[in-house]
Amino acid sequence: MSDPVTARVAAIPRTIAFVGLMGCGKSHIGRRVAAQLGREFYDSDAEIERAAGRTVREIFAELGEPAFRDGERRVIARLIDGAPAVLATGGGAFVDPTTRATLLEKAVCVWLRADLDLLVYRTAGRTTRPLLLAGDPRQILGDLIEKRYPLYAEAPVVVDTRNEASEITTARVVGAIDAYWQTEVR
Ligand code: S3P
Repeated sequence: MSDPVTARVAAIPRTIAFVGLMGCGKSHIGRRVAAQLGREFYDSDAEIERAAGRTVREIFAELGEPAFRDGERRVIARLIDGAPAVLATGGGAFVDPTTRATLLEKAVCVWLRADLDLLVYRTAGRTTRPLLLAGDPRQILGDLIEKRYPLYAEAPVVVDTRNEASEITTARVVGAIDAYWQTEVR
């Protein structure tokens, strides 16, 4: 038996899509939100990797970023037309105007906003993200904050993430979606 907030959010007839920069916790929190709501969880990067039979890093290296963005656009368009689920999008997905418009129209978009220190800390030591291998990760993430935060801000639900237990962030996210859906959408 779920609590009333969880029950209301589970009944929203839209996919919940997480957007935000690399390391903000889209997949980590998205998976937990999906479990709490009893929904399928999808990660757009994992879906692209499955379709391409290559890792994200290999796709960037062998096919180039534009090919990755094409795949990302197609994968998200397909997932968004399926049953309401929870979707963690890659950090650049919401930057693409077509994908952003699709997500804003058909999903409930949640921006997990994090500060630079947290993003640097959370992405450190990983070699799976090609954009962060091109130079100093702090510099690159700082530049991406400048470029992308005004776009992520178009998401109707914004939740600040910090170094706290995942259960707490998950509860704050579900609460913020509930508040948005009750007051903003009618
Ligand atoms: C990217 C973010 C990555 C992945 C790719 C490009 C970006 O996803 O899609 O490396 O442009 O910010 P995560 O945000 O899940 O790390």
